[in-house]
Amino acid sequence: MEYLTFALGKGRLANKAMEMLAQVGVTCEEMKDKDSRKLIFVNEEMKLRFFLSKGPDVPTYVEYGAADIGVVGKDTIMEEGRKLYEVLDLGFGKCRMCVCGPKEAGAYLQHKDLIRVATKYPNIARDYFFNKKHQTVEIIKLNGSIELAPIVGLSDVIVDIVETGSTLRENGLEVLEEVCPLSARMIVNQVSMKMEHKRIMDLINALKEVI
Ligand code: PRP
Repeated sequence: MEYLTFALGKGRLANKAMEMLAQVGVTCEEMKDKDSRKLIFVNEEMKLRFFLSKGPDVPTYVEYGAADIGVVGKDTIMEEGRKLYEVLDLGFGKCRMCVCGPKEAGAYLQHKDLIRVATKYPNIARDYFFNKKHQTVEIIKLNGSIELAPIVGLSDVIVDIVETGSTLRENGLEVLEEVCPLSARMIVNQVSMKMEHKRIMDLINALKEVI
């Protein structure tokens, strides 16, 4: 039997994913050692391998077949636009992709003004403004703390993830428009889906039972 390899986005999503996988009997003892510097963890009995990577790299590993299966946020799947199968909404990590800004910026959206949009997700922002809203905007790519941009005058609005809404509230910003809902998804390499069809489908069906 070949190894089935899982790529998990580092952080909260990976922990949640491992909890959910444990519920269907997919476990990895090696991974529980938090002090370990190992990058790849193996369950020899079940012929499974697991590794953690930066979220945006998960779809890359899965598209190229370095991982058969990945767990990553819908935001990352949309932004990366890789060739892969998105097979399951895992139901955790729920949040929303939104256009946010100071209340006054709502008018710029209504009037379709040429505004500046700061975001960690330029592809999602471009698709939303250009293809859905038909509003020409200037997109500015940032790498984090996106809420800063409208506060210091770098942009008029932002496109970013909103979970509890507290970052917005504490910085005098609000949701102006919702782009789409988000949650953690399971993705599968297109060749693996054929070659390991039964193992992968059994896993998907078992997960569907616990979601
Ligand atoms: C995310 C997101 C928002 C915040 C939303 O940032 O970009 O800033 O969480 O959460 P809330 O609605 O519950 O306040 P993250 O913590 O991932 O860090 P980042 O600023 O580096 O993107």
